Amino acid sequence: MPRVAYVNGQYLPYSHASVHVEDRGFQFADGVYEVIGCIHGHLADETGHLDRLERSLSELKMDMPVDREALRFLMRECLRRNNLKNAGIYIQITRGAAKRDFKFPAPETPQSLVIITFPFDFDGNVGVVNGGRVKTLADIRWKRRDIKTVALLPQALVKQEAVEAGVDDAWMVDSDGYITEGSASNAWIITKNKKLVTRPVSYDILRGVTRTAIEKIASENNLVIEERAFKPGEAYEAVEAFTSSATALITPVIEIDGHAIGNGKPGDITQKIYGEYRAYVDGLRGEQVHWESGL
Ligand code: PDD
Repeated sequence: MPRVAYVNGQYLPYSHASVHVEDRGFQFADGVYEVIGCIHGHLADETGHLDRLERSLSELKMDMPVDREALRFLMRECLRRNNLKNAGIYIQITRGAAKRDFKFPAPETPQSLVIITFPFDFDGNVGVVNGGRVKTLADIRWKRRDIKTVALLPQALVKQEAVEAGVDDAWMVDSDGYITEGSASNAWIITKNKKLVTRPVSYDILRGVTRTAIEKIASENNLVIEERAFKPGEAYEAVEAFTSSATALITPVIEIDGHAIGNGKPGDITQKIYGEYRAYVDGLRGEQVHWESGL
């Protein structure tokens, strides 16, 4: 079965799936995206991801190019045409193609909508089973990290630097020395008194949809979340640490800057949250959460 992608109204074979050279996403990073996991045929946290997509667009003064129901159909149709049940779904919306100019193009300019699906083996994800090692690096992003824009160069640079240093990922650190988040995930630590600590919602981080589901899981499992910023020094002393995202789900962090976290193995609370999250996605734990910016 040839792989296909949805591009501006058409399902195209991968070799032909492209956007115009003057697409503003290409020239200005003038676009937003979402990544949604499809796990055993269930679109994990689809509601929350679409909530956030609409909010990212509105912050950049863009509309949804198609309505929510149409987008839900297009995602499923991409999965069906690619014969995928375990996959990542990538949605990208830009302000469209127009002669290069910093000001916005005429309002009637059609936006670009691209949907790509890719196979993703959530059950065989070794990172989730073994945990990952991270390195802290300076956060050099712009000041509106709450918007999920396609301007990902800083994240690509820190990820590359981390990988070149022999670890799996970077946790970024702001100019005051506090951890913001992972290159493409939210960062969490668990303290000795079993509290889950993660940075409060602000313009400094992207509020994860997976994080929002973890808030629900925590409240149902008597786990306390403390929203506050923390520094690498505190993270080194944590009993457990993990990252959360649509593809990595809940991935244990077993080492930060060469310091083993806890006993250097994925922790019990992290694994419990992962199990609860998988059960929630399988539809065994009630309704999907809605996502709000909180700002
Ligand atoms: N990234 N923070 C950043 C900077 C991210 O890029 C992501 C997700 C998250 C977690 O958000 P969520 O739980 O909604 O996936 C936090 C996606 C997976 C990516 O860029 O591939």
